[in-house]
Amino acid sequence: MDLSNDVILITGGTSGIGLEMAEQLAARGNTVIVTGRDEDRLSQFRESHPGLFAYAVEVTDLASVETLYRQIVSDFPNLNVVINNAGLMQNIEFQSFAPARVTDEVAVNLAGPILVTQVFLPHLLKQSEAAVLNVTSGIAYFAFDKAPVYSASKLGLHSYTQTLRKQLAGTSVKVFELAPPRTTKPMFNGSDEDNREVDRIPKMPIERVVAAMIGGMKRNRCEILPGMSKLLRLIGKIRL
Ligand SMILES: NC(=O)c1ccc[n+]([C@@H]2O[C@H](COP(=O)([O-])OP(=O)(O)OC[C@H]3O[C@@H](n4cnc5c(N)ncnc54)[C@H](OP(=O)(O)O)[C@@H]3O)[C@@H](O)[C@H]2O)c1
Repeated sequence: MDLSNDVILITGGTSGIGLEMAEQLAARGNTVIVTGRDEDRLSQFRESHPGLFAYAVEVTDLASVETLYRQIVSDFPNLNVVINNAGLMQNIEFQSFAPARVTDEVAVNLAGPILVTQVFLPHLLKQSEAAVLNVTSGIAYFAFDKAPVYSASKLGLHSYTQTLRKQLAGTSVKVFELAPPRTTKPMFNGSDEDNREVDRIPKMPIERVVAAMIGGMKRNRCEILPGMSKLLRLIGKIRL
């Protein structure tokens, strides 16, 4: 796909990799809509990015996703690309972590993209050319003990993405996966200490990750593994 005249929804586009995606895709002439939850961040985004659009959604909540769907298809009837980027990564020690939050990553990283895709799919199937891109991670393939539920949720998303691709073969909807390696955006949604613990892992600039995503989608490469992610996938296969 050309990615220069498309109408693109990016979940979790108010910060980090999603924000970089929004800026690079808008610079190519696409119409870009981002989502987030935090109203202050959404307002800041609208102020700092005139010409781009921002909506609130909780991707783990069906009613919230359906409300977003109604707003988006009414405001942007030509929407043809959905990027499931919103994600969460926690540093979890099973012997001390509170049970109440231990499945949060499964909800945000796995159930969320499945829900968003399912709600938007009927609309995407009506477009002459459309795409879903799911953001997984290099550590989907390489179980990372500091983020055990994250790794499991992203491996689940990888598997879901493969089956979605098979089911949609022959339709107008292409299914992509972007598996970023560690980037210059801090990994853990938590304390600075959590991030310091993983400081030795090389970081790929988010600008390059997003450029690789755009290049991969333009060349119709269904699995886009920038930087270290290719190696992590290979090591993960050898370990199994
Ligand atoms: N950072 C890395 O090095 C790295 C490496 C590999 C893969 N990834 C993946 O890349 C994606 C982006 O990561 P990032 O580090 O750039 O993220 P980030 O800066 O932490 O941003 C996360 C975004 O997702 C939104 N979000 C989080 N939970 C949500 C929910 N339940 N419902 C709706 N929106 C929600 C946030 O909105 P609010 O702030 O409003 O909640 C925010 O816009 C994630 O899928 C992550 O797993 C990241």
